[in-house]
Amino acid sequence: MSTIDKIRELKKQRDAVILAHYYVDDEVQAIADYVGDSFYLSKVATTVEAETILFCGVSFMGESAKILNPEKTVIMPDMQADCPMAHMAESEKIEKMRREYEDLAVVCYINSTAELKTYADVCVTSSNAVKIVRALPNRHIYFIPDKNLGRYAASQVPEKHFIFNEGFCHVHTGILAEHVRTAKEAHPDAEILVHPECTPDVTALADYIGSTSGIIDFATASAAKEFIICTETGVLYELKQKNPQKRFYSAGHRQFCPDMKRISLEKVADALESMSNTIELEEETRLLALRPLERMLALGN
Ligand code: 13P
Ligand code: SF4
Repeated sequence: MSTIDKIRELKKQRDAVILAHYYVDDEVQAIADYVGDSFYLSKVATTVEAETILFCGVSFMGESAKILNPEKTVIMPDMQADCPMAHMAESEKIEKMRREYEDLAVVCYINSTAELKTYADVCVTSSNAVKIVRALPNRHIYFIPDKNLGRYAASQVPEKHFIFNEGFCHVHTGILAEHVRTAKEAHPDAEILVHPECTPDVTALADYIGSTSGIIDFATASAAKEFIICTETGVLYELKQKNPQKRFYSAGHRQFCPDMKRISLEKVADALESMSNTIELEEETRLLALRPLERMLALGN
């Protein structure tokens, strides 16, 4: 039996649904029931009926699915697949900011551990950060953990005072402005599409800035025929599926998330067979992390 047939069989036996982020390998995206950006996947996680959610992504994604669905079994193909940025904020610093600013909202990118989310007032993803920050009643915003998404949101919501944290994504900050300029020289008609986890000198070169889904939708709707893609290259699978007649170029050599790429078809089959890589959270942590996620879902829709 092929691995794909085995996965199909096990999915039925386990009453499982497969969610996958755009950054996992093409063959994993191809077998998933739902593929999308972080916001879409967190919404899907609240509506699926299956008993088991298999999350092809990094651990904060599985944790968010579990926080939103405590009664479901959430499993991961690889428990080591973890986003380094998800850990890049400190509770002591958050508490210090709360003492310093009376009217403070702690805005936490969904790329964060469940533990960090317990300190947050609201979560955001790259597709809804601007909308949600703008809707908050607070004037002071402590944005954790990603300084680059925080800076991008601040540039769009100038009426708020932002305090930034030092977190970053090593994949997106590895895309350098000089790489983008070189790619543009080679493809002068190409539009430059940039994820907001990139540094400000790269977002400054963009024709469009948005989440993975935003980038895919923009390229699909655009009249342009060529695009320079400044995010993880996993998005190229969906971009090419939707736009076989258009051309896509990456800007650098390091647009590769080693954690997302840990997910393989074999690991998907193994996880469904053993049902051992389950996400478990203390109920107190889950309940505290649930509030900012639910607030995001309410404000983001
Ligand atoms: P989005 O899918 O929200 O664009 O997030 C990108 C990302 O880095 C996920 O880890
Ligand atoms: Fe984390 Fe960056 Fe990988 Fe996304 S691409 S999971 S932010 S390291």
